[in-house]
Amino acid sequence: MPETDPFSSFVLKNFRLRNRLGVAPMTRMSSPGDSIPRRDVLDFLVRRAQNGAALVYTEAIVTDYESAQGYPGQARLTTQRQIDAWAPVVAAIREAGALSVMQMFHCGRMAWPAVNPAGRSIAPSALAPRQKNPLTGEPYPVPDIMSPFDIGHVITGFVETARGAVAAGFDGIEIHGAHGYLISQFLSAYSNQRSDDYGGSVAKRYRFAREVIQAVRAVVPTDRLLTFRISNWGVADSQVSLFESRAEYQEIVRRLGAEPLDAISVSTYDFQSKAFDTDRSMAQLTREATDLPIMICGRIFDRATVQAALADAEIVLSGKSLLLNPDWVADLRAGKKLPLYGAEDANVAYTEEPLP
Ligand SMILES: Cc1cc2nc3c(=O)[nH]c(=O)nc-3n(C[C@H](O)[C@H](O)[C@H](O)COP(=O)(O)O)c2cc1C
Repeated sequence: MPETDPFSSFVLKNFRLRNRLGVAPMTRMSSPGDSIPRRDVLDFLVRRAQNGAALVYTEAIVTDYESAQGYPGQARLTTQRQIDAWAPVVAAIREAGALSVMQMFHCGRMAWPAVNPAGRSIAPSALAPRQKNPLTGEPYPVPDIMSPFDIGHVITGFVETARGAVAAGFDGIEIHGAHGYLISQFLSAYSNQRSDDYGGSVAKRYRFAREVIQAVRAVVPTDRLLTFRISNWGVADSQVSLFESRAEYQEIVRRLGAEPLDAISVSTYDFQSKAFDTDRSMAQLTREATDLPIMICGRIFDRATVQAALADAEIVLSGKSLLLNPDWVADLRAGKKLPLYGAEDANVAYTEEPLP
């Protein structure tokens, strides 16, 4: 029987989580100039730890100063100043009894040249996302096809950022392989039409993810966590199934299960939705294909949904509920009736007003 009590502890590798509740990664666009998040944005993460979350993810941190960035004001973690800014945050999260995990990504074809020093957008293939850039209302540019040099160079950015996170003391590192960003673009035949070693079969489309994981693991000490986030949807391709079938998705999960990863984080719009014309949810399909601990996210907002989600996962992550309600963990414990927040509610993430 799975443990569905949100307040049961869980051993994740060499860490003991005090409960099953984590803060999902949330981009805040508060780091113009020095790529260091605003003080109140950092304090927000510490406060969620102090208020009972067991796991605190950072926003997605971009992996280089060239072509990785997709939104204005994103954070980086490759300079000593950036490391020095995060180190006390990480220490305070630990002091509050929670684990800290740094999420990192490269936006690939969803990068925005205007906010990238290289003024260039790169991706597996010369295909733009279907939807427009929500911030400009303009179509995304057609990206340059990544050369072998680009591939190696981008992997170096993931490695350097992981090294920054290790130096800052983070308990874990997450490779963002979800939401239609670069790694997800390689995994999906929808955005990857290469005919070299990085495209075609699932094994070849998977190759870039594998190279990133292997290169990053080499600089992440074995006593720190390495996790991978995956989804079947993309931010700029929201109606597209990024994987063609259950079999394809599960083959990728099986491959991830063979990597030196400590957990897989499954991102959904709604954790209960059935996937790939099956009667199974994404978490259930993931569970069929791997023994890795699973984190699940998507419309998990009250005690009933947390318990339902824990039937098929070890940890639940909450985005909007923890963004908008500082007392979410206590409210769950009290079994309060809680609201399901909508996408518009989350716009407070991008204002300059400090969140409670
Ligand atoms: C303001 C905001 C920013 C987000 N930024 C990220 C991000 O940087 N990385 C990521 O993997 N997901 C990001 N997400 C998605 C969340 O991690 C989560 O998967 C999503 O909000 C669904 O969970 P929820 O229904 O609990 O809100 C973001 C969501 C919100 C609301």
